[in-house]
Amino acid sequence: MIKASVQPNDGLIVVRNIVKSFGRLLVLDNVSLAVEEGKTTVIIGPSGCGKTVLMKHMISLVRPNEGEVYFKGERIDELNERQLARIRVEYGFLFQMGALFDSLSVYENIIFPIQQHHKITDWKAIDELVKQKLAMVGMDGFQMQFPSNLSGGQQKRVALARAIAMDPNVIMYDEPTTGLDPIRSDVINELILKLKRELKVTSIVVTHDMKSAYKIADRIVMLHEGKIIADGDADHIRNHPHPVVEQFIEGKIGEADLAALRHGGTKFQTQYAKDDFK
Ligand SMILES: Nc1ncnc2c1ncn2[C@@H]1O[C@H](COP(=O)(O)OP(=O)(O)OP(=O)(O)O)[C@@H](O)[C@H]1O
Ligand SMILES: [Mg+2]
Repeated sequence: MIKASVQPNDGLIVVRNIVKSFGRLLVLDNVSLAVEEGKTTVIIGPSGCGKTVLMKHMISLVRPNEGEVYFKGERIDELNERQLARIRVEYGFLFQMGALFDSLSVYENIIFPIQQHHKITDWKAIDELVKQKLAMVGMDGFQMQFPSNLSGGQQKRVALARAIAMDPNVIMYDEPTTGLDPIRSDVINELILKLKRELKVTSIVVTHDMKSAYKIADRIVMLHEGKIIADGDADHIRNHPHPVVEQFIEGKIGEADLAALRHGGTKFQTQYAKDDFK
């Protein structure tokens, strides 16, 4: 039986039968996904499988070769940049890399998206807004610092404050915990949960971090070779019978890759006996 495809109003954001290639590389092969309003949808999958590309379709930063993208039932993949401005103000985006402008202070970074859309006249209100957004991520007081003086985790939090500066309906997070230690990662997880709870945002999170995925997701979808191969809540994914899903969530190397390594002939020996730790 062929699965009925999604309809434009099945979710706040709907991608429908999208195909995307770069040259001869087929990245997304007829992908459909309806993102439910107010929920956190997590996209997982191996490096290079197209997670970021899929997410960028949802805000028309990348356009499909085939298929359609809808926001609130309106088709957005055919809008021009000027028409998209109206849609994009509803989104906050935490990019995978280069989150902040190094030459701007924390304060200037946060007001950047506001200045893109409005001429600021009431600076007192803006000061208050920056303070409020920074407080939301536990970074009030850092207004005059520059990104290079902040730790990776602090930079992510400031980037998050910037992403929520315009009170978005949707927040997209591209690998928000990558490069952070487990404690700082968990701070980000808690923030994602808090923003969902307090701002009622719809969140889309791309991650490799299964601990984070299990904690924050209402729904997890796994991309593999251009297709969605798993889709469900944390328990569903944890107990998924598909060997590729199992391998990925357990971080195990595949048989083919393992065989290749064996051919390399490297032998490993443990350096310590168990008794050394007694
Ligand atoms: N603008 C582009 N031009 C050409 N190829 C691209 C472009 N953007 C992405 N790709 C290719 O598409 C594939 C999917 O990229 P994508 O960034 O979505 O991967 P990803 O799943 O987010 O990986 P990672 O986990 O490493 O971030 C990659 O092979 C990438 O090289
Ligand atoms: Mg990516």
